[in-house]
Amino acid sequence: MATKRISIHGEWSSRWAFVLAATGSAVGLGNIWKFPYITGENGGGAFVLVYLMCIAIIGIPIMMAEIMLGRRGRQSPINTMHTLAIEAGHNPHWMWLGWLGVVAGFLILSYYSVIAGWALAYVFRTASGTFTNVTPDGVGSIFSTFLADPESLMFWHTLFMVMTMLVVARGVNGGLEKAVKFLMPALFVILLVLLGFAMSSGEFNQGLSFLFNPDFSKINANGVLIAMGHAFFTLSLGMGAIMVYGSYLPENASIARTTFMIAAADTTVALIAGMVIFPIVFANNLEPGSGPGLIFQTLPLAFGHMPGGLFFGTLFFILLTFAAWSSSISLIEPAVAWLVENHNMDRMKASVVMGISCWLFGLLTVFSFNIWSDYAPLSMFERFREKTLFDLLDYLTANIMLPLGGLLIAVFSVWLMSGEASRDELGMGEGPSYLLWRFLVRYITPVAVIIVFLRAIEVI
Ligand code: PFF
Repeated sequence: MATKRISIHGEWSSRWAFVLAATGSAVGLGNIWKFPYITGENGGGAFVLVYLMCIAIIGIPIMMAEIMLGRRGRQSPINTMHTLAIEAGHNPHWMWLGWLGVVAGFLILSYYSVIAGWALAYVFRTASGTFTNVTPDGVGSIFSTFLADPESLMFWHTLFMVMTMLVVARGVNGGLEKAVKFLMPALFVILLVLLGFAMSSGEFNQGLSFLFNPDFSKINANGVLIAMGHAFFTLSLGMGAIMVYGSYLPENASIARTTFMIAAADTTVALIAGMVIFPIVFANNLEPGSGPGLIFQTLPLAFGHMPGGLFFGTLFFILLTFAAWSSSISLIEPAVAWLVENHNMDRMKASVVMGISCWLFGLLTVFSFNIWSDYAPLSMFERFREKTLFDLLDYLTANIMLPLGGLLIAVFSVWLMSGEASRDELGMGEGPSYLLWRFLVRYITPVAVIIVFLRAIEVI
C-alpha cells in the first residue's frame, strides 16, 4: 500500500464538515433555478424520471469514485491525476482530465455568478416591497426590464464574484467550512414553508402530475442528454470540485455513506423546488417552458400574495444566494488549489487572479441577456439555432464537459487504478457493496454516458 499523502491546503475538521461542504457545493442554483426550468422545457415527468435514474446509476457511483481519487491524491485535480496515473503505472497525461475540470469550473462560474447576481438583486427587490400584490404580467415585466440593463447585471455579477473570492481566499477551514454550516439547514426550512404555500394556494395536483406522471412522447434524445448532464451538474461531478473537496477529507470517513447523504439531500431539495414552483405556474397560467427566468417570474408572485411574503421572500432570496455561494466556491477551488501548488502563489493572490479572469468571461453571459440577445453564434446548426452565448456555455459545460469528465473518471478508477488501491481507499472491504460499485463504474456508467452521447448526436 502506498504511504498516505497529506494535503498542503489543510483538512476538513470532521466528516460532517465535509458532508456539509460537499452538500453546499451540490445544492445550489442547479436545484432551485435550473432543475425547474429545464424540467419545464423538457415536458415534465419523463424528464424527471430519467434524471432520477441518472443520479442513481451514474451520479452516485461517480461521486464515490471522485471522492476516492481526491482523497488518494490529496492535491488539486490536475496534480492528483498526474500522481495517481504514475502510481498506477500509466501515462501522466491523465492530468489533462484535471485540466478539463478546471476549465469547466471556470466556464461554469463565469455564468453562475451572473445568475447568482439575479438572486442577490431580488433580495433587495423583494425586501423593498416591489412584488407586493403585483400581477403575473407585472412580475414578468420587472424581470425583463432588469435583464435588459447590462449595467445592473454587471453590478450584481461583480458583487457576487467578490463574495466568492473572499471565501476562497480564506481557505479550507477559515472560509469554506464556516460559510456552509448554517446555510443548508435554513434553506431547507424555508423551502418547506414555500411548499406549504404551494399546497394551499397553487394548483398542487396539477403541479405534482406534471412532475411525476411520465409521458415519454415529450422527451427526445437531446432531453435525455440534458437530464444526464444535469445529474452531473447538480451533484457537482465530472470537473474535480468533489475531487478537490475529497482531497481534504479525513482518512477515517466512509466515502459511501457520505455520498448517499449528499445525493439524498441534493435530490430532495430539487424535487421540493419543483413541487413549489409548478403549482404556482399552473395557478397563474404561466408557461412551464419559459426558460431561465422561470423562478424569477413565479416565486415573486407567491411572495407578493402570501401573508408574511415580504419576510419569507427576502429570506428565500438570501438563502438562494447563499446556496449559490457555497457552490461557486467549489467551482473555482480546483483552479485556485492548482495555482497555489504549481505557481507558488498564496491563496489570496490566486483568488484575485482567478476572480478577475472569471468576472471578465462572465460578461459574455451578461450581454447574452441584452445587447447580444439576438446573437446565436451557432445558428447554422438546427439544434443551436436560437442559442445565445450563455445557452451555449451552459450546453457545452453541463451536457458535454461534465459527462465527459465523469466518463474518464470512471475509466480511470476501475480500469486503470488497481483494485487494491480503490478497495483500500473506499474502505468497504470486498463485500457486495464494493462489487456493485465496481460493476456500475466499470460497465454501466461508461456505456450509459457513451450511448446518451451517441444518441444525442444522432449516430445511433
Ligand atoms: N452543483 C451546483 C448546483 O447545482 O448549483 C453547481 C456546480 C457546482 C456544478 C460545482 C459543478 C461544480 F463543480
